[in-house]
Amino acid sequence: MKYDLIPNTLFIKNRKKFTAQMKSRSIAVFNSNDIYPISADSTIPFQQHRDIFYLSGIDQEESIILLFPEASDPKYREVAFVRETNEHIAVWEGEKLTKQAATKVSGIQTVHWLSDFDKIFFDLMTEADTIYFNTNEHYRQAVETQTREDRFIQRCKKDFPAHQWAKSNPILQEIRGVKEQEEIDLIQKACSITEKGFRRVLGFVAPEVWEYEIEAEYLHEFIRNRSDGFAYTPIIASGQNANVLHYIENINQCKDGDLLLMDVGASYANYSSDMTRTIPVNGRFTKRQKEVYEAVLRVKNEATNMLVPGTIWKEYHKEVGKVMTSELLGLGLLDKADIQKEDKDWPAYKKYFMHGTSHHIGLDTHDYGALKMPMKANMVFTVEPGIYIPDEKMGIRLEDDVVIQVKGNPINLMSGIPIDAEEIESLMNS
Ligand code: GLY
Ligand code: MN
Ligand code: MN
Repeated sequence: MKYDLIPNTLFIKNRKKFTAQMKSRSIAVFNSNDIYPISADSTIPFQQHRDIFYLSGIDQEESIILLFPEASDPKYREVAFVRETNEHIAVWEGEKLTKQAATKVSGIQTVHWLSDFDKIFFDLMTEADTIYFNTNEHYRQAVETQTREDRFIQRCKKDFPAHQWAKSNPILQEIRGVKEQEEIDLIQKACSITEKGFRRVLGFVAPEVWEYEIEAEYLHEFIRNRSDGFAYTPIIASGQNANVLHYIENINQCKDGDLLLMDVGASYANYSSDMTRTIPVNGRFTKRQKEVYEAVLRVKNEATNMLVPGTIWKEYHKEVGKVMTSELLGLGLLDKADIQKEDKDWPAYKKYFMHGTSHHIGLDTHDYGALKMPMKANMVFTVEPGIYIPDEKMGIRLEDDVVIQVKGNPINLMSGIPIDAEEIESLMNS
């Protein structure tokens, strides 16, 4: 792994939070992701399933962790299974976790090779009544691929039809949503790498550069700072492309006079950062571009200060909508009549700002986290308003990642990333 070793005390705490919510006489099992094939012997680079990572720090394929707080033999209350390695395998396949290394990474004392799983699991299941399955219940998920976890669940349902089933996901949604300080530090690290990428790009962007060249500049800066790469597919959208919300081709040439919207974040130790900045290709905003830019920035700042303990996500979006409406009136994009006849389910401001303002961020870019419960301290959210005006060939979004505090305004993990229009101009022209 490129990242520094994470103290296993984090994963020990995470497991404690999970097991505290398990029913009596129950076992929970978490599988790693598969390595996904391309064709022939080619594969997509491995990405660990974030739940097994959150609970163990094990960042390797073909791994399983098992939690059974009431196992009669204390040795089996936490078990990790990893693929077998030895000196010969290491020569051919590179270094894999030894049993000792798996303990060091995770804090789990009992480690077995994966080939022992079936026998141990069967024995333990005779002592349990309930098995927790880790299904994907994310509000945005639309996954068709069968995962290793799905295969495990299918097999369990067949092999243990008399056991009760329970869901891990609601527990994980709740506990992963509130971050430990170690996690905030890792997200901060990801944000700081993103900052380096952005500063590099400020000195690179000029009329005639291609969007993919800018993408390459970010990646270069990310990797040389021990990032795992992009936290999500980056959007490098010049001119009219900024009005395509999920523009990820990044294949056009940046033109003099256009704006450039960049939604890019580095990943570090599997933690995401998620930044958007919009800059003038030639280093100077026009008067109109700056007017719209300042309006987006004001909405962002006001929205950020609404992220306090107790805020309800849905209500928050309504309030941000009101602030945005007032800015759009000021920009002459809406008038009073538009507001009077607006559809309450799709208010007038949505014509220019049609996406949400915030999502949880952490091990996943669109992270787990309770959305219907009041917000809590140490939740980490993005704040990302935008104004999209195809008729003016302009789309502006600004996005930072912030941590809710017990009292007062959130801490901005991207406070070092230039956002002030004059500062951006000055850096681009220096
Ligand atoms: N980059 C994805 C998002 O902003 O939600
Ligand atoms: Mn983003
Ligand atoms: Mn985002």
